[in-house]
Amino acid sequence: MTTIDTIQIRRVAGAIGAEISGIDLIAGVDDATIAAIRQAWLAHGVLFFRNQPLEPGAFQAFAERFGEVVEYPFVKGIEGHPLIVPVLKLAHEKVNFGGIWHTDTAYLEIPPMASMLIARELPPFGGDTLFASGYAAFEALSPAMQGMLEGLTGVNASAKADVTRTREDRIKDGPAAAPRKDLLAEHPVVRTHPETGRKALYVNFGHTIRFAGMTEEESRPLLEFLFAHQVKPEFTCRFTWNVGDIAFWDNRCVLHNPVNDYHGYKRSMHRVTLKGDRPR
Ligand code: SIN
Repeated sequence: MTTIDTIQIRRVAGAIGAEISGIDLIAGVDDATIAAIRQAWLAHGVLFFRNQPLEPGAFQAFAERFGEVVEYPFVKGIEGHPLIVPVLKLAHEKVNFGGIWHTDTAYLEIPPMASMLIARELPPFGGDTLFASGYAAFEALSPAMQGMLEGLTGVNASAKADVTRTREDRIKDGPAAAPRKDLLAEHPVVRTHPETGRKALYVNFGHTIRFAGMTEEESRPLLEFLFAHQVKPEFTCRFTWNVGDIAFWDNRCVLHNPVNDYHGYKRSMHRVTLKGDRPR
């Protein structure tokens, strides 16, 4: 059993990301350690756990220590575990799942709090995942720009062309995909994190199509600036996977982007999504 005395937390970059070591998720983790992990997660946005090859039931049970595991729209779960979604690119495929900068399902009225991903099968090279801090992006803006953005609402769409393309293979091939329905949600462009109280930039290239009350054409210049700004290298970290590694990120303040640089090889991950609240 892992206890609070055995874990170590090491930051991996300046703005975001930390690796937790001295932990054995298969042996079990006590409640005090889960509380310490949650504090580290809130501080660093994304946590990495090396070499924790949990079988699906144990993987979901670990995620459930942090919140309620909920369904992911459009893609059906793996056999026997309806809430665990396969994140899969096969050797013959060219498009990877979610392969652009995004936060998960910002087109829902209640987007997820968090996502947890475990690597099952990896290409011999590549397939890293990039993460970016919405806090760092917001905090680096000028006070005047911050103030203007705080008055804006973003319109987020599941049908935004680029993100749809990254999912359509899986939707088509999936075990029994849910019927497709385009989803749209409006959220503040700057959201206040409900646990830390920090402000994060909450638009993303994958889903945000315009500002409420403006046309797409009117919105585009500022959105393009924000999409480029929010993923500046100094706001990011990069995770190189080994089989059995787990990443756990906070969708309320973190963007992610799986790098599609391993054509000809399979990459297979399992993901769960944790219930969130309405962005404010
Ligand atoms: C995703 O959840 O968007 C995919 C992340 C990954 O495959 O690394």
